[in-house]
Amino acid sequence: MAKGSVLVTGGTGYIGSFTALALLEADYDVVILDNLYNSSAEVIRRIELISGKRPDYYQCDITDEKKLDEVFDKHPKIDNVIHFAALKAVGESGEIPLEYYRVNVYGTLCLLKSMQRHNVTNIVFSSSATVYGDATRFENMIPIPEECPLGPTNPYGNTKFAVETMITDHINAERTNAKKAGKSGEAFNAALLRYFNPAGSHPSGIMGEDPQGVPYNLLPLLAQVAVGKRPKLLVFGDDYASKDGTAIRDYIHILDLARGHTVALDHLRTHHPGVRAWNLGTGKGSTVFDMIKAFSAAVGRDLPYEVVGRRAGDVLDLTANPSRANKELGWKAEHTLEEACADLWRWTENNPQGYRQEPPKEFLEK
Ligand code: NAD
Ligand code: WQD
Repeated sequence: MAKGSVLVTGGTGYIGSFTALALLEADYDVVILDNLYNSSAEVIRRIELISGKRPDYYQCDITDEKKLDEVFDKHPKIDNVIHFAALKAVGESGEIPLEYYRVNVYGTLCLLKSMQRHNVTNIVFSSSATVYGDATRFENMIPIPEECPLGPTNPYGNTKFAVETMITDHINAERTNAKKAGKSGEAFNAALLRYFNPAGSHPSGIMGEDPQGVPYNLLPLLAQVAVGKRPKLLVFGDDYASKDGTAIRDYIHILDLARGHTVALDHLRTHHPGVRAWNLGTGKGSTVFDMIKAFSAAVGRDLPYEVVGRRAGDVLDLTANPSRANKELGWKAEHTLEEACADLWRWTENNPQGYRQEPPKEFLEK
């Protein structure tokens, strides 16, 4: 019998699809909903090819409360939600902030209300290291612990901060209301997972990040340079106070990140912590030049780059202190940066059109 049944919103996206796979492999039933704004339903087939299990899937907008209700009605066994559905482009969030508040904040509000109507009480939320803003403004806050004061510096980060606050207020109120009604209240729990920089793909080479439109993040851009879709990588600044002048990030393999969700969910179900934030990162910082070197090694040739000015809003160092997740969740990132780069390259070589092409034959013949 399955451990439980999980609704994964945004489950055809990059992190959501890997988490759906990890949940199936950890013996949860999975129901995915997504409006396919930034993903493809082909990923459902890839999940099935790898795991041998097919998640249920609904094309549904997170702001459509009626449809959310229908999904919960159809799947009364759903007892947990992992909420990924969101807009995530930092630059765009400065241009159309209201759209970011509508999808990210109002969308979560709709989800929480629908969960409440269906007595679904555990939620794992995709937050982001971006809620910390520039942690170098404090002394001794690198690597960043969860206690670091929050201070996002862009509208996208503000929506993540707003949702963390909304979920906290809601779960605390539900606990108090349950106690007033003579119940323990411990059924209501939320994990706020603050991801650092997700990287890599599935080692099989048939699942990976497939952003629609122009990518924003370093590794997908480097992958495009490697396949000749871009002439070179633009390095945003080499005048930071780091070992080589480029900015430092904590790149975490997507398989480790996905597993972080299954263990966080297990923890909510067994320890009933109320609302708790956990950093999901490796604790190891890498510069942009480190990444160019590591990905070039995976590809087997030097990749062209040019140093240009800093990108607005970038900070020197976003490295996690993951010790809270290490201790409380028994979770630790296990995959190396080299594996992330090798896996990303395998996915990119096998699927130059991402999910818009058939998977390699040997997978279909298995
Ligand atoms: P993604 O774009 O691949 O996945 C998000 C999914 O949400 C997509 O499949 C998209 O189609 C869906 N979606 C968007 N608007 C929707 C709507 N209105 N209704 C239903 N579905 C909708 O992005 P990702 O990288 O997998 O990110 C997943 C979550 O993790 C997001 O909440 C993001 O903010 C957060 N996050 C991402 C990163 C990162 O670097 N990738 C880092 C920290 C946090
Ligand atoms: C990494 C490093 C760039 C592109 C963003 C969001 C964050 C989170 C993860 C969602 C930086 C440098 C990049 C390029 C470069 N997402 N770079 N040339 O900015 O750390 O984090 O994604 O929550 O909220 O802000 O990730 O991959 O864009 O950049 O030099 O063409 O690579 O300056 O130092 P970032 P990134």
